Amino acid sequence: MAPNTAIFYFSGTGNSLVCAQALAQGLGNAKVLPLAAFREQARIPVEADRVGIVCPVYFYTLPLIVREFLPKLDLSRARYVFLAVTMGGFPGLALVHGQEILARSGANLHAGFAVRMYPNYIAAYDPRKLGSRVRMERNLAKAVPKIVAAVRAEQRVPVRSSLTGRVFFAALGRNFLATCRTRDRSFYADSRCNGCGTCVQVCPVGNVELNQGYPRWLGHCEQCLACLHFCPTEAIQIRGRPTQRRGRYHHPQVTAAEIATQRLLPPSL
Ligand SMILES: Cc1cc2nc3c(=O)[nH]c(=O)nc-3n(C[C@H](O)[C@H](O)[C@H](O)COP(=O)(O)O)c2cc1C
Ligand code: SF4
Ligand code: SF4
Repeated sequence: MAPNTAIFYFSGTGNSLVCAQALAQGLGNAKVLPLAAFREQARIPVEADRVGIVCPVYFYTLPLIVREFLPKLDLSRARYVFLAVTMGGFPGLALVHGQEILARSGANLHAGFAVRMYPNYIAAYDPRKLGSRVRMERNLAKAVPKIVAAVRAEQRVPVRSSLTGRVFFAALGRNFLATCRTRDRSFYADSRCNGCGTCVQVCPVGNVELNQGYPRWLGHCEQCLACLHFCPTEAIQIRGRPTQRRGRYHHPQVTAAEIATQRLLPPSL
């Protein structure tokens, strides 16, 4: 029997979930687990032979929730650990930071991969103008077999830090990490909101509630943008950004209900 693999994922708009599922399918004998469901646990023991983490790049680094999750993983039984990030175009220091965080808790990162998918950061650009579904599918179809082959062979794939990654991270990433949780202060719902509650359901960390039929954000945000992109009426906006004129995105194979299950603990590890 193939060695078993546990793949933990975090995903706002579905790209990383699709990537994690494709890797699990390619590897066989693999479980896909939502890392958001483990966020209250102090220690996460893992029995699998191989462990993967799949998540988006945020501001040239890893999402805060992932940075907090990695040191809690007990990887003492794992023979091989890999990190695969999905991104709009620039991984920056995401893989390097993953390696450094694991090293600080005494674990090794054996391989790191970056997969260009669809850019979803609507605060900075119009995803519809920058993104291409055809390119995303082509990239994923190329990347998945390569990652699967490397993981099967338990191959070492070193992660590198580029000078541009360091410069951009120094300028933007640190500020993002320091302000991430309260950046939801600039979210609001406009008059198109019909009180359907989808934003409440999809939030992977329970950071949205309805107040008199309108969403209210609670100040422990991960900036995954699931609430904004899955809102069926495109009512959620970011103050000071022209988000009313920009297109919404979520991976076409991923439903709001699937994103909503991220908060729920899977039946077993
Ligand atoms: C807050 C935020 C910051 C982002 N920063 C970057 C970045 O630095 N580099 C990049 O290539 N993509 C960046 N993106 C785009 C996402 O990494 C990309 O769309 C990813 O595939 C989304 O994954 P998901 O669908 O699993 O949430 C950012 C997205 C968000 C929401
Ligand atoms: S998902 Fe959109 S329409 Fe539904 S409650 Fe939230 S903001 Fe309003
Ligand atoms: S409030 Fe919205 S952006 Fe923040 S974590 Fe929840 S779904 Fe993601």
